[in-house]
Amino acid sequence: MANFNTHAGKTFVVEHLDPELEEWSSLEYHTIATECHATGAQFLLSSVPRSLKLPQNLQQINGLHVETRGIEEIYAEKKDKVCLLDPAASKDLSPEDGDTFDIFLFGGILGDDPPRDRTSELRKKGYQGRRLGPVQMTTDTAVRVTRIVVQDRVPVEKIPYIDHPELQINKNESTQMPFRYVKGEDGRLIMPEGMMDLIIKDSEKGLDDLL
Ligand SMILES: C[S@@+](CC[C@H](N)C(=O)[O-])C[C@H]1O[C@@H](n2cnc3c(N)ncnc32)[C@H](O)[C@@H]1O
Repeated sequence: MANFNTHAGKTFVVEHLDPELEEWSSLEYHTIATECHATGAQFLLSSVPRSLKLPQNLQQINGLHVETRGIEEIYAEKKDKVCLLDPAASKDLSPEDGDTFDIFLFGGILGDDPPRDRTSELRKKGYQGRRLGPVQMTTDTAVRVTRIVVQDRVPVEKIPYIDHPELQINKNESTQMPFRYVKGEDGRLIMPEGMMDLIIKDSEKGLDDLL
């Protein structure tokens, strides 16, 4: 595992909260690493169990720093510089928060419907919290939106979104995603490479289980 050194500039930390690292998360983390690297930000994946073997697509990827330590240990001296992105926070993230905070913290958990508030595991550590609007996002979307707000200085409500999109699985079926996504310049939602194939594979598996 790579060692992480603190750099100048914004750092995006995803605290991995699951014992396993599912394919869905690995696609999200790969995208976060690639986008952070391309925009000069740091990406740290923390609390990764020592026993966990990183999936192939996360091995030796530029911009990914993996840590077995948790956020509290890594940034013990900088607690006031850490902002937790928290769907239950009373205040929305603003571009000015980019002047106050250096480190942005996210829950490395899969989204669920209805949301189970697993972000509370990080909230109880006492960090200042900010919301990214009222709709649940995937972790990679939450990191993308935070970067746009604090690095590109775009207010959270000015970012174009697509909410709860209906994805076509095959000729006859579609599935609705219970999340908010950023709308790309081509007018389509931004999601990790390979995610559509995984959603199709998972929904076919779900159908097989029903038969
Ligand atoms: C898929 S979400 C998990 C939400 C989940 N249902 C829960 O139990 O909290 C993963 C992470 O993205 C961030 N996130 C997602 N939507 C957000 C929002 N609307 N406001 C702030 N943070 C958000 C949070 O850091 C959250 O822990």
